Formats: sequence, structure tokens, C-alpha cells
Amino acid sequence: MKRTPIVELLNTAPAEQTVNARGWVKTKRGNNFVNFVALNDGSVIHDIQIVADVAKFDEELLKSLSTGSCISVIGKLVASQGKGQKVEIQADSIEVYGTADPDTYPLQKKAHSMEFLRENAHLRLRTNTFGAIFRIRHALSYAVHSFFDRKGFYYLHTPVITAADAEGAGQMFQVTTLDLKKLPLTETGEIDFSQDFFGSSANLTVSGQLQGEAGALALSQVYTFGPTFRAENSNTARHLSEFWMIEPEMAFYDIQDNMDLAEEFLKACIAYVREKCADDLAFLNERYDKELLERLKFVLENQFERLTYSEAVEILAGSNHHKKGKFQYPVKWGVDLQSEHERYLVEQHFKKPVILINYPKEIKSFYMKQNADGKTVAAMDILFPGIGEIIGGSQREENYDKLMARVRELGMHEEALHWYLDLRRFGSAPHSGFGLGFERMMMFLTGMTNIRDVIYAPRAPKQIDF
Ligand code: 4AD
Ligand code: MG
Repeated sequence: MKRTPIVELLNTAPAEQTVNARGWVKTKRGNNFVNFVALNDGSVIHDIQIVADVAKFDEELLKSLSTGSCISVIGKLVASQGKGQKVEIQADSIEVYGTADPDTYPLQKKAHSMEFLRENAHLRLRTNTFGAIFRIRHALSYAVHSFFDRKGFYYLHTPVITAADAEGAGQMFQVTTLDLKKLPLTETGEIDFSQDFFGSSANLTVSGQLQGEAGALALSQVYTFGPTFRAENSNTARHLSEFWMIEPEMAFYDIQDNMDLAEEFLKACIAYVREKCADDLAFLNERYDKELLERLKFVLENQFERLTYSEAVEILAGSNHHKKGKFQYPVKWGVDLQSEHERYLVEQHFKKPVILINYPKEIKSFYMKQNADGKTVAAMDILFPGIGEIIGGSQREENYDKLMARVRELGMHEEALHWYLDLRRFGSAPHSGFGLGFERMMMFLTGMTNIRDVIYAPRAPKQIDF
């Protein structure tokens, strides 16, 4: 018989029709006459109740229906007498696909700590919490593609292995097939990458943006959505070594257009997930973060505050918070804003999402459009409550000479960038783009406070399990 997902069964009018449900046992309770099994297949946060008459089934079989075991049940869909559910399945036959020994199965009936669940990342997907998180993750991915499709963008698959350092920050994982015990050296004693697999040094991409720009300067509007890798040694609750990023890139957009698109995009994603994942969000709101739903609504309904970096520094420097010495890091023009500053602006001062533009050029990437003041670049960061920076982007420098001057000033590897510089030599155009950290957005949508809890297997310093 064909399986019906539990999400469908729960929405079916019961008429004693024979159905087949398959899934993992959440809990079992009962007495000498009847057993009640809560069954979940991940299609929805709710379980379906299976009612098994003890007289009808083998004792051993009923015993094996412990938390975590996987079964297939054929039975009649009937209206439920009990409260908490509209329908249940009166079991006629039960097949056990896989038992789970209660003495060794890590997940118990009780709630587990997030730390414990992180140590069991392969099984945590079966909990209500992670079921909700991963259904939301799917919905968010879908919302991203659907938004850009509606807007006439093309999805560009940019390479994962590259020779360029897009952000110029040097936080790259190297990719090599050289024998690390016998590295070939050049005459000057450097590692001879001409003998390496690609004939040059190579690394995992930190961003698909540079290739995205080639796409935008041909197809006008593209976006990338893929894994990115950063070897920064920051073991924080907001950083991963492998994370997913969405990077739209648009020809003929200036920084204002860029801000408008980013705000519209974030709101469209929130609206979609709110509609599609209402039950999962309600669960997370109840269990983890009582203000989650309120916060989503608030961000949807309010305009983001837009101001310059310079204005933000003035606000921070003039704040009582600063005067009382409560910021750990210095506040003055020229410094990179720390998450404590970003969160102060968003959570204390404006009490809504903030878009900051025109940052000092020294703290931003080489490709950003140089402003007329000679000091700032047309960068844009979007800051969210509870998260800090969720989007980083900019208008790009489209002038060849200015870009080249910056590349040289920073002593960058010109060779690996020749094609990127070409984009300014042949049919250059004003263009802009931004990058949304997918997991940061997931944190915002789920209320999770640790980024390791919104991805299947977090990659972080000293962490490669699962
Ligand atoms: O600000 P970032 O470094 O910008 C770029 O990479 C640009 N190339 C984007 C563009 O203009 N196309 O990163 C963009 C976003 C950040 O705002 C943050 O949300 C996320 O990516 N991010 C991280 N998320 C998780 N772990 C990390 N280590 C992250 N680093 C950045
Ligand atoms: Mg950034």
C-alpha cells in the first residue's frame, strides 16, 4: 500500500478509510488493552496517533515500538476521541522497519539541551525543534528562488573552487593535491603551485560575487546561492566556516536601488516563511522565543532606518552607553563596527532594522565604489535585531583606473583578477549587489541564538563531525 504523509492524513476527513502511515515513534503509552503511539514522519510538526489493540498484536512487536523505532502502519483513519488531535489511525497491521534500543538510543522522551543535540546532529533532525528548523530552512530557500524568479533574475552557479580571493581578506581554505610532506619549491624557495593540480594556487570560494558581476554585466540581473567558506578563526555564535550565501548582482543599480531591493527581498522572505511555516513558527515561539512572531511582524511592517556610517558613529559616540564605558570596543570614525555597536543601533537606538552606507574605504573590500569624498566607499550593511549584520553589499567600482589603483594599493594578486578587471575594460556599467548570510537569516526566522543550530552539520574551528 502507498504511504500517505502524516501532514496529509491530519488534514483528511476521517471515514474509516484504510491508510498507510510510516514514520518514527515519538512516544508510546498505554495499558493492558490498548497502546497509543505518537508517530512522526517529518512532514509536519504534529504527530499522528496510532491506536493498537493489545489483543490484536504480538507482544514482542508492541514492545519494539519504542521511541526512535521506525514503523509502517496500515489501519483505518477515524475521528479521535481523545483531545489534541482530530484523527487517529486504528491499526490493523504494523511492520517494524528498524528498532531503536531504548538503552542506547540517545533521544529520550524528555527535552534535551541544545548542546547535547549538537553532539547528535545526525539524530537531532528527528526532534520537534529541528524538524521545524529544517522545514523553515527549506521554505526560506524556496522563497529566495521564487523572489528572484519573479523579479526576472537568473540563478548563476558560480564555482566553489577558485584562484581569486573575492573579499581580499585572506581567510581562505586552500585546495591542493600536492604532497604536503614533499612540497615542490621554486628557485626562490616558495611553494611551486605550477606543479599543483590547477597549475596555480587554489582555494574554496569566500563569495560568488566576482563571478556574479560577470553575470550581471551580461544578463543584467543574476543571483548566486551556494556554499561559501571562510577560514576565519572566530568561534562565535554567528560565524561558520562553511555557510550559504545568496548574492544578487544587478547592472544599472546604484546604492539606493540596492538598498530598496535588499529590503524588499528580506521582507518577501519573512512573509513567505510566516505563511508557509505557521505551525513550526508557533512551536518555536512557544518553546524558545516568546517574541519571535512579534519580531517577524514588526520587521515586516516597518521601514528600515537608513543612515550613513558617519551618522551612526556620531550616535554611538554620543550615547549614554558609550559615556558610561559600556562598549568593549572603541567607537570613533574609521573603526570597524563591532556586533555590540550594531546591536545597540538596532535594538536600543532605532529599535528596527538599520541600513548603514558609506563606510571608510580602509575597512571595506577593494571592489567597492569609491565615493567623491575620497574617504568612503558606497558600502551597505543591513543590521537586524538579535543578529547584527545580516547583509553586506555595495555599489561596485566600475571605473577601471580607480579599481586598478585600489588593487595595486592593497598589493593584491592582479594575475588572478585579470578577468575581473576586464569587466571594467569592456562594456563596464554601474552595478551593485549584496550578500545575505543564509544562516544568519535562519537565526532571525527561528529565534535560534546559535548559528550552529540552523545548519545540518556546522563547520567551525575544530569541528568537522557529521
Ligand atoms: O559581508 P560579507 O563578507 O560580504 C560579501 O561576501 C560580499 N561578497 C557580498 C556581496 O556584496 N555580494 O558577507 C555577506 C554576509 C554577511 O552579511 C553575513 O550575513 C554572512 O554573509 N556571513 C557569514 N555568515 C556565517 N558565517 C560567517 N563566517 C559569515 N561571514 C559572512
Ligand atoms: Mg560584511
